[in-house]
Amino acid sequence: MTRPLLSRPDDGPTHSADWWRHAVVYQVYPRSFADGNGDGEGDLTGIIGHLDHLARLGVDAVWISPWYPSPLHDGGYDVADYCAIDPRFGTLHQADDLIGLAHDLGLRVIIDLVPNHCSIEHPLFRRALAAGPGSSERDLFVFRDGRGADGAEPPNNWPAHFGGSAWERVVGPDGVPEQWYLHLFTPEQPDWNWSSPAVAEMFDDILRFWFDRGVDGFRIDVADACAKDMTLPDLPDDAGSGMSGLDKFPGHPYFDRPELERIQRRWRAIGDSYADTPQGPRIFVSEAYLGPTPRLAAFTAPGRLHATFNFDALLTEWTYSSQRAMIEATLAGYGAVGAPCTWVLGNHDQPRVVTRYGRRVTGSPYTSAGLGRPSPAGPGADLALGRRRARAATLLELALPGGVYLYQGDELGLPEVDLPPEVLQDPIWERSGHTRKGRDGCRVPLPWSGTRPPYGFSPEDATDSPWLPQPGDWAGLTVTAQEDDPDSFLTLWRTALRIRRQHAALGDGRLRWDPDAPDGVLGFRRDPGFACWTAFDTGPIDLPVGARVLLASTPLTGGKLGPDQTVWLAR
Ligand code: GLC
Repeated sequence: MTRPLLSRPDDGPTHSADWWRHAVVYQVYPRSFADGNGDGEGDLTGIIGHLDHLARLGVDAVWISPWYPSPLHDGGYDVADYCAIDPRFGTLHQADDLIGLAHDLGLRVIIDLVPNHCSIEHPLFRRALAAGPGSSERDLFVFRDGRGADGAEPPNNWPAHFGGSAWERVVGPDGVPEQWYLHLFTPEQPDWNWSSPAVAEMFDDILRFWFDRGVDGFRIDVADACAKDMTLPDLPDDAGSGMSGLDKFPGHPYFDRPELERIQRRWRAIGDSYADTPQGPRIFVSEAYLGPTPRLAAFTAPGRLHATFNFDALLTEWTYSSQRAMIEATLAGYGAVGAPCTWVLGNHDQPRVVTRYGRRVTGSPYTSAGLGRPSPAGPGADLALGRRRARAATLLELALPGGVYLYQGDELGLPEVDLPPEVLQDPIWERSGHTRKGRDGCRVPLPWSGTRPPYGFSPEDATDSPWLPQPGDWAGLTVTAQEDDPDSFLTLWRTALRIRRQHAALGDGRLRWDPDAPDGVLGFRRDPGFACWTAFDTGPIDLPVGARVLLASTPLTGGKLGPDQTVWLAR
């Protein structure tokens, strides 16, 4: 099943045991990547058929968002079977092929683990419902009697992240309401009870199932939430809405609980037990919107998880002082525990980076950074400005020490799409009472080729249109259109990744701030012989004497650095 990793000609780092410290990881959102069978939804045939895009781009790994059987109440993050592939995406056999092909191309494969909750269609949840109150089946989840005389009130005041209460009342087969169950997300996503040893053991088996098939690592969904205070105390009235950074106060009943450490160490031990296989130990990267930095960095202390998404990078406004402070805090926080930094500008939960950076307000405070922030699409975003800044930010993050996570389509500079309400599928739209459009605007199927929808996303003879409509003006954004254009986003990414892969100074390591950088220019040096300068609202600026330009985010005017530009220099 597991094929040996072949070397790429210019390779080396991808196959070292610490590849994860500096990897550039490409996120595939399967439903929107490429549709092989013409039903309007992406699938494994589509991913397999376009793996060469990732290899040509020059990334080190692919992270595939959930591909498991799911009724898709939350885009696949409602898992009905952790050890199978959703038939609409393909088969387990194809997953094996995909993993093998990726390895042949020199790409590591990370998949998604969703340990906080499953789907109401998971057989164990169905069994728990049928087994009734007090049963061992119900102990795998968090069932409780309601409050009030007839139990009609939820057991406590916890809110669900997408709106409403975190509790749903079960109605028995006789139509009589009985217990409630906990769901931190939608009612279709019941939370597992991680204080049950059976739950922990089941996830051990899930990890081994995929590691044995050759998967190189897992991205851990909502990694700060599995453990709960099982006395289920009410939240204080001023606790905020939950899924938002600093609302997660120390001692919170379900975020960043001390019990998490034991779970993380357990997973790490399983990953480490693969040390003697050709791929080496398997890795874990956590997803958690948790601040401040040292708190999240603790997840990556020795013996715990390998890395964690640095959402500060994604949320910080595009100004000199904010970016510099964010980078310093990140380097200090992760440096203190010996973990690599990661740099993240986008994912399937956040508005597209070119649109965010085209707005007047480019950042988002951690306290309101929850999932499904109001979509910034629509009038008001200056996309030309957003693209210029996103290009500058791309070179900045690729020059920083550590790894980079790239969301599909960001290598094409895709903007957020302002979708009409009738096509929206994100549960946030309904559960917010139609006040928040949610995350569909960054999940629109990718444009590969051609001049009109489906832009090569589906085959010519497709029976259905893409599951979310693509805009009519994306002809210039397709992979084919950008391929041979020296000024395109795609060319910038390919060139940057080629240089990054070859340059000894880039990837993991250290930086020192460049004393020669003028005011308002974020400049740092990395050894041997590399400097990165980013200008925010200053310029034109003379480059240091004797420096040779390796790459500029947009063409330099008169050889000088202008506002919202990054340049890589050999010094
Ligand atoms: C993570 C996922 C998001 C999902 C949520 C619940 O934040 O990235 O898409 O809705 O977890 O599983």
